[in-house]
Amino acid sequence: PTTTPAPWRIQIEGGAEFTLAADEDTLLRGALRAGVPWPYECSVGGCGACRFDVLDGLMQTLWEAAPGLSERERKRGKRLACQSRPGGDCRVKVRLDPPAAGAMASRPPVRRMATLLARRPVTPDMDEFCFQLPEGDAGEFIAGQYALLYPPELGSPRAYSMANVPSERGSNPTVWRFVIRQVPGGVGSGLLFGLTPGAQLPIDGPYGHGHLQPGTRDVVCIAGGSGLGPMLSVARGVLAEPGTRRVHFFLGLRTQAELSAVKELDGLDPARLRLHTVLSSPSAEAPWVGPTGFVHEEAERTLAQPLAAHDFYFAGPPRMVEAVQEMLMLRHRVPFEQIHFDRFI
Ligand code: FES
Repeated sequence: PTTTPAPWRIQIEGGAEFTLAADEDTLLRGALRAGVPWPYECSVGGCGACRFDVLDGLMQTLWEAAPGLSERERKRGKRLACQSRPGGDCRVKVRLDPPAAGAMASRPPVRRMATLLARRPVTPDMDEFCFQLPEGDAGEFIAGQYALLYPPELGSPRAYSMANVPSERGSNPTVWRFVIRQVPGGVGSGLLFGLTPGAQLPIDGPYGHGHLQPGTRDVVCIAGGSGLGPMLSVARGVLAEPGTRRVHFFLGLRTQAELSAVKELDGLDPARLRLHTVLSSPSAEAPWVGPTGFVHEEAERTLAQPLAAHDFYFAGPPRMVEAVQEMLMLRHRVPFEQIHFDRFI
């Protein structure tokens, strides 16, 4: 079958319909831009939340082996909307999220060309990248949301969370900051670390549901590795509010060499912020008198019980995210509405 030129009409079984313009690169991003509450989490093929069926029409798959689908699901014809691009009008089947799922309804993602303003080291393998958005682009987002960055010469995007807060948009020009870890052998982060100020990069966003919610309970942020970025954003968001809720910030690092990351919390209101730094593998060669081990276990040890008296936000490596979920949901019965995170790969 041959593809037909865009725009394409996408009909969702049971009613909703939207149009994908020529420049929409995936079914998911087209749906979200059209305000359709398509379910998703990672946007990059890892979580499986955006799965759907094609009932009619031509649909191309961008990443055949995306881990978001099992072999069995693939054989049954399941697809991932974040890894699919229509080749013409299509009819699809998907269970949409409830309408007006908060952020999405008011802030559809925008793809724009941003300019790298500055880069500075946070730890030996993490840098803060500060991108300037084009003039007139308000860059609205909610603390804790993420964006898709398109590293040069790479067809597929990488997801990174903003580390600043939207109130910084009052600054001129609008900037989005990201804390990015250079993954050993990682192609995407390797290309980003090759960028110098002045470089231009497409940035698409905001995305994500694990963002800051209004509330009155104290907030717990648990950050592992580059999960520092979104947790900084959430903490800054809470402390920028006029309310009295406090932030218990648990920062998991590997060794003393990474302790420079603690400086990122300088300037946050010490009366409402309590920082706990935990090293997973401290070096015997340097002094360390603080806690060691898994960062979520330190949270479990030190937070006042019951844990359900807090709202939880967390970001970090997949194993940490799983361990925190298990601790909160299974061991401490923290209600699901008090648990906020986005699954990346
Ligand atoms: Fe598509 Fe995660 S696999 S949103």
